[in-house]
Amino acid sequence: KNIAIIMGGFSSEFEISLKSGQVVYNTLDPEKYHLYRIHILKDKWVFVNDLKEEFPIDKNDFSVMVNETKITFDCVFNAIHGSPGEDGYMQGYLELLHIPQTSADMYQAALTFNKRDCLSALKPYGIQCAESYFVNLGDAIDEDAIIAKVGLPCFVKANRAGSSFGISKVYQKEDFKTAFEVAFAEDDEVIIESYLDGTEVSVGVINYKGKVTVLPITEIVSDNDFFDYKAKYLGQSQEITPARISDEQSEKVRTIAKKVYEVLRLKGFSRSEYIFKNGEPHLLEVNTVPGLTEASILPQQAKEAGISLKHLFESAVESALN
Ligand code: DAL
Ligand code: MG
Repeated sequence: KNIAIIMGGFSSEFEISLKSGQVVYNTLDPEKYHLYRIHILKDKWVFVNDLKEEFPIDKNDFSVMVNETKITFDCVFNAIHGSPGEDGYMQGYLELLHIPQTSADMYQAALTFNKRDCLSALKPYGIQCAESYFVNLGDAIDEDAIIAKVGLPCFVKANRAGSSFGISKVYQKEDFKTAFEVAFAEDDEVIIESYLDGTEVSVGVINYKGKVTVLPITEIVSDNDFFDYKAKYLGQSQEITPARISDEQSEKVRTIAKKVYEVLRLKGFSRSEYIFKNGEPHLLEVNTVPGLTEASILPQQAKEAGISLKHLFESAVESALN
């Protein structure tokens, strides 16, 4: 089978995605699959071979000509964080071409990538989250109304972004201006959330060999003020798997994370973050293309569960193919 590992993307996360994609490329068995690295970048879509030669993708059918041979793909392994891999665009495109891919479907991806809409969709199911306020680019911003609703400190976040791009913690009214600039640099929608003081955990839920499986829970202890980009990727945090929480708390958050996966009808990998407030897990967000780099959490959780990366990725490909 020909497997296209798509990586890159159009957002600030593109370098992280190139790393995730490379891990997938290095891990899947080349004797079992024909593996192709496909860079989906703003200015070009190309197959990149081991000599770093580039061959343009024909967007009409997602094929590529290599030495006068046309290559088509049986499956796409989606390693694009952010747009267009995590927000539904690639999913819609590939679905029209009848090419299966490894992550959540179009609508599910678009919904979960939109923090505002995802949290709103989950609320009726009893999923708790932080108090929030929304602002679109161009709206008049009433800082007093924001503070009245969410309090201080609070988080100002780009509504559709990942890897903590576009996120600031705001302690005082004067901090809002910069925080909005940072957020609007990533997206034209912004979500402002109350600060939840409690243990933060990350929960991987995946379809492993056809079964919805909750991976061991990771506790996040950031050396920085919050789990920002540097904490995530430059080692300025401790990620402790399994999390140091009670069995009761663990059971609670596992049940919620599985419910989220099921009610949203996700596919493939997912990873969601929660903060315990008054003993109750509050959902921050759902990622449908979680990081697969050496520093990322989902691979650590799989390892703790006794699932090798190779088996993890193979299972994703096989579920997509079936
Ligand atoms: N958005 C990053 C890649 C993650 O969720 O791991
Ligand atoms: Mg995220």
